[in-house]
Amino acid sequence: MQRSHNAIQLTELSPTDLAQLYAYPAELDQPWVRANFVSSIDGAATSGNLSEGLGTPADRTVFGLLRELSDVILVGAGTVRAENYGGARTDPRHRRTLHDQGIGGHPDGSPPPIAVVTAGAAIEPSARLFTDTEVPPLIITTTVAPHERKQRLADAGAEVIEAGGAAVTPEDLLRVLRERGLPRVLTEGGPHLFGELLAADAVDELCLTTAPLLVGGTARRISLSTHEFRTRMTRAHVVLGDDGTVLTRWARR
Ligand SMILES: NC(=O)c1ccc[n+]([C@@H]2O[C@H](COP(=O)([O-])OP(=O)(O)OC[C@H]3O[C@@H](n4cnc5c(N)ncnc54)[C@H](OP(=O)(O)O)[C@@H]3O)[C@@H](O)[C@H]2O)c1
Repeated sequence: MQRSHNAIQLTELSPTDLAQLYAYPAELDQPWVRANFVSSIDGAATSGNLSEGLGTPADRTVFGLLRELSDVILVGAGTVRAENYGGARTDPRHRRTLHDQGIGGHPDGSPPPIAVVTAGAAIEPSARLFTDTEVPPLIITTTVAPHERKQRLADAGAEVIEAGGAAVTPEDLLRVLRERGLPRVLTEGGPHLFGELLAADAVDELCLTTAPLLVGGTARRISLSTHEFRTRMTRAHVVLGDDGTVLTRWARR
């Protein structure tokens, strides 16, 4: 098979090469927002209502690496509820190595916290987000969310941050993360949060896995927003998995 000049076989990359391909820019003083999504060939963001239904070994490799590289994993509450998110499980030694290389990770090896955006704070305090995590999650919410809900999430171990009135704007979201010294942002969605961030021109890059699957049905796609926009992106790389998975990275122009 002919290989295009900028498509790389995943099997030809060492773990270090792969990490370098996904390095965050050095010495960030502003949040750098990287999104990571998986889609079927026919554009579905879910199979069986979950993104997990689209995952392949190659996707899981990059999904895990992007978590290892990040300071914080930003998700909408819809995704947390649908996928019963727990805390990120990362490798402390790998996190320290990535930090020493200046491309991500963490100096003491601790995992990135999950930061959940929610207007209503309707998240169960018994959810894995609170019970299955090494570090406290951040709940980024609003002043109008019921006080007792916020209190229950704080009692469950979360840091609860009121960052907006009725909703949290992308600007306020990024301010909260900047103030906490978490510039390497990895957003794992979902489509509503991603659409809002895109509409506000707040996304620096998209890592998109195309799983070698057609699924039909009525599944939604990876971004949804109230109005349409056209954001030009540049192709940064294409990595090919043996199983047909295509791993792409797109950067904002
Ligand atoms: N293919 C993939 O890679 C992928 C990735 C992620 C998710 N998914 C799938 O996507 C589905 C969930 O999608 P979704 O679009 O409903 O979820 P979402 O974007 O994760 O969550 C939407 C929710 O986030 C909160 N939110 C979003 N923007 C906000 C803002 N500006 N201010 C305050 N709160 C805000 C609201 O929570 P409240 O309702 O609590 O106020 C809103 O209902 C699931 O089926 C999941 O499996 C797929």
